[in-house]
Amino acid sequence: MAGKTGSALGWVVVGMIAAIAAALLLARPSAAAYTPMSATTLSTRALTEVVPDSIANAQQVRLGQYLVRAGDCASCHTREGGGFLSGGFGLNTPYGTIYSTNLTSDKDAGIGGWSADQFYAALHDGAAPGGGALYPAMPYPYTTRVTRADSDAILAFLKTVAPVNEHQPPNSLSFPFSVRPLVHGWNLLFFRSGEFAPTAGKSEIWNRGAYLVTGLGHCGACHTPKNSLSADKTRQALQGGTLDQWVAPDLTQNMRTGLGSWSVDDIVEYLKTGRNAHANAGGSMAEVVAYSTSILADADLRAIATYLKDQPPSPEVGASAPDAAMRRGAAVFSDACTSCHMEEGAGQPRFFPPLRGNAVAQQTDPTGVLHIILAGDRTAATAQRPSALSMPAFAWKLGDQQVADVATYVRNSWDNRAPPVTATQAKAVRKSLGLKKERLTEDSTDR
Ligand code: HEC
Ligand code: HEC
Ligand code: HEC
Repeated sequence: MAGKTGSALGWVVVGMIAAIAAALLLARPSAAAYTPMSATTLSTRALTEVVPDSIANAQQVRLGQYLVRAGDCASCHTREGGGFLSGGFGLNTPYGTIYSTNLTSDKDAGIGGWSADQFYAALHDGAAPGGGALYPAMPYPYTTRVTRADSDAILAFLKTVAPVNEHQPPNSLSFPFSVRPLVHGWNLLFFRSGEFAPTAGKSEIWNRGAYLVTGLGHCGACHTPKNSLSADKTRQALQGGTLDQWVAPDLTQNMRTGLGSWSVDDIVEYLKTGRNAHANAGGSMAEVVAYSTSILADADLRAIATYLKDQPPSPEVGASAPDAAMRRGAAVFSDACTSCHMEEGAGQPRFFPPLRGNAVAQQTDPTGVLHIILAGDRTAATAQRPSALSMPAFAWKLGDQQVADVATYVRNSWDNRAPPVTATQAKAVRKSLGLKKERLTEDSTDR
């Protein structure tokens, strides 16, 4: 960690930086540390092609290739149209855009010249060679859990990736976030380095799941709520996070908002194929499924599911929806939604997700539901389920009040329960998505 080797004076300086950073940052809205800007269409070939026995340390390289899948490194470190892992992909943060780096074997622009120690320092401490701090847009608060052997294997694989001599564009971060040394202060406040240590008394498969979820898989980077400095609220681990006008739902055992009603097999099927009887994987989860979980071993998916099925449920949130909004919402639903989601929100499982009992619909924060109604979405395409199903966008058809009403209705019908949604909330999501204005003929109470 930053100050471990420093003098007492070093600590004071770091502490001051932290205090300044905190003061500057606290005024900011809370949000996830990052969100990929838009869906990349990567080829998964380089992630899945068989490493030939002929190359040196083939076994270690194979392990490294597999771990790169588990870490979803390619989603962030490959840009549309760029070489595999050549970086330059822009990540949206509440503070501006951060570009991922080149991880190819290029000695100048990539990691070709890196030692195993330097690479481990990046994953384990968020430290760049030379001691500079990496921004936590690189999920080192998670990759710190990676073992040294796994880190070495990842590097061995990266050194086989075709070199691309391309540097990432400069970041466009607003002041003071553009001042990289402030990250030392953030680390001091929020970052605890440390390799994964198995929990005694838990099974081997549980511990394997814990290693993947809390380490390479960095599931909490999206699924854990954030504080105002974009750090994880660790006491609410996996209870659901908001990122870039979307919600990564609660993954605890809550029956309504979480995975309480999903079996281990359900979770495995979702991660493997992008669909199951409860839900389809859309939003940024579509990429996680396509470039990571769908190409992991079933045993590891089972391990992840075993760990998730053991997370204590998040607290219940009370809710009651006004009758008038429910009546208006029912009319919109019957008109615009039943063709796919069917009467009673029964859906057509694995094609059109059921909305009865749906967790995405019942998240306390309605941002995800509003996003999907306004902008539509596509389900992940995987080898098992190659066609990407679409939900149409309703932004141009429905006004803010109608969107709010149908969301309230979906959240509070068929035994669903979640706080009602207001037209103001719908308007805010519409605005931040930059979507077209509602029709002028619409009878909206929100204008
Ligand atoms: C959520 C997006 C994201 C994921 C997933 C991700 N990275 Fe990164 N990574 C970044 C960003 C952004 C940077 C640049 C950070 C900076 O400039 O401070 C980075 C930087 C790095 C660096 C430092 C490189 C340098 O030249 O300084 C290494 C090494 C690295 N990542 C390896 C990995 C590996 C290995 C994985 C998969 C296990 C991975 N990353 C997954 C976003 C990501
Ligand atoms: C880049 C952000 C991101 C990461 C990383 C991520 N997820 Fe997700 N996840 C999401 C979003 C967004 C959704 C909601 C998808 C939707 O609305 O269709 C989701 C949905 C899910 C769901 C379905 C929940 C439901 O009730 O419908 C499961 C299960 C899940 N994720 C598991 C995981 C696991 C396990 C990991 C780590 C291996 C992970 N996710 C990593 C963003 C992420
Ligand atoms: C043409 C078919 C179609 C229509 C009409 C439609 N949907 Fe969907 N809907 C889908 C598909 C397909 C998905 C899965 C998309 C994904 O994977 O994110 C979906 C997903 C959803 C989800 C997220 C569920 C989850 O688990 O991620 C919600 C909420 C939703 N729709 C609500 C509505 C509402 C409200 C309406 C009416 C205003 C509507 N839909 C109309 C096809 C449709």
